[in-house]
Amino acid sequence: MRVLVSGGAGFIGSHTVVQLVAAGHDVVVVDSFANAKPSVAGRIEALTGQPLELHAFDLTDHDKTEHLFAEDSIDAVIHFAGYKAVGESVEKPLDYYENNIGSTISLLRAMERHGVGKLVFSSSATVYGADPPVPMREDLPTSATNPYGWTKVMQEQIFRDVATASNAAGRSMRIALLRYFNPVGAHPSGTMGEDPADVPNNLMPYIAQVAVGRRERLGVFGDDYPTPDGTGVRDYIHVEDLAAGHIAALGRLEQVEQPVSVWNLGTGEGTSVLELLHAFERACGRELAYEILPRRPGDIAASYADPSRAHAELGWRAEKSVDDMCADTWRWQSQNPEGYPSG
Ligand code: WQD
Repeated sequence: MRVLVSGGAGFIGSHTVVQLVAAGHDVVVVDSFANAKPSVAGRIEALTGQPLELHAFDLTDHDKTEHLFAEDSIDAVIHFAGYKAVGESVEKPLDYYENNIGSTISLLRAMERHGVGKLVFSSSATVYGADPPVPMREDLPTSATNPYGWTKVMQEQIFRDVATASNAAGRSMRIALLRYFNPVGAHPSGTMGEDPADVPNNLMPYIAQVAVGRRERLGVFGDDYPTPDGTGVRDYIHVEDLAAGHIAALGRLEQVEQPVSVWNLGTGEGTSVLELLHAFERACGRELAYEILPRRPGDIAASYADPSRAHAELGWRAEKSVDDMCADTWRWQSQNPEGYPSG
């Protein structure tokens, strides 16, 4: 299929583009580079061995979005594009609603006008809200505790309503909502990986920057949670497994009857902050400094998936271990201490 990947120069998007090409799909990328560097394109091309068709604009620009669909013959969309920093969303809610909701509406309008009926959406376990029962199952109610999370909840609802209306109007639409747990890791080649623009909000890139000497020590946000070692437990999933989940979901949309399908993409295993830190020490071969800090507001004690529906319906299962995640992250970070080249 000819697949439009929005946000295809981002962390998960770039790894998915490489796997889409390897699976024989035609790929065209649109990215505003708000959360990615143009140099990622060269890394993708080096891995795929072919030129990358890339359009650099923001999906909220509906004229450009419409023109892209008019000039191309797109069969399906994988929609990664969006702002994703929880803390930033609290400070700038309007930016998050305007960008994340606006880009989705612009994309859906172009899809409807040009008869594109298949979409895979980058959702998040954050839609399970505050303190959900673990392991999280797809039939839990959705809610959020911050504007970023609400944009994901709202986008899921927009996809449900549009798919229902399209199918009722005789326009076939099949949408997959993929709820990621904690994406980490890097391409095994060490040439692509996670490259936060500023001080990393997330645990794995922060640990990697301590290991490579960019940060002095890790601050552990609380060790008094009701978890085995008192630190937060999360379901870390390797970005390569996550990318494979998108390929599987895209293929499944050819067969499903229902307008909207929801799948958790997680390992089903929980790992604590200190367990991840020690796994990274094994990967990089050195002790990493850390200090215990107060809990981070809004954090929950434990989050991990029940991935059984994706196993059964997608024939997909996360294969990589936490040690694989750390080894691949370390290879990427040590080969690219400052991340991707700027410019
Ligand atoms: C993981 C654990 C922290 C940093 C977030 C978003 C979620 C999704 C994934 C987009 C927690 C602890 C972290 C640090 C620490 N993003 N931690 N020191 O919060 O589970 O999920 O990223 O969809 O929406 O909320 O991930 O990596 O920030 O935190 O101790 O410097 O590591 O308390 O227990 P989180 P995280």
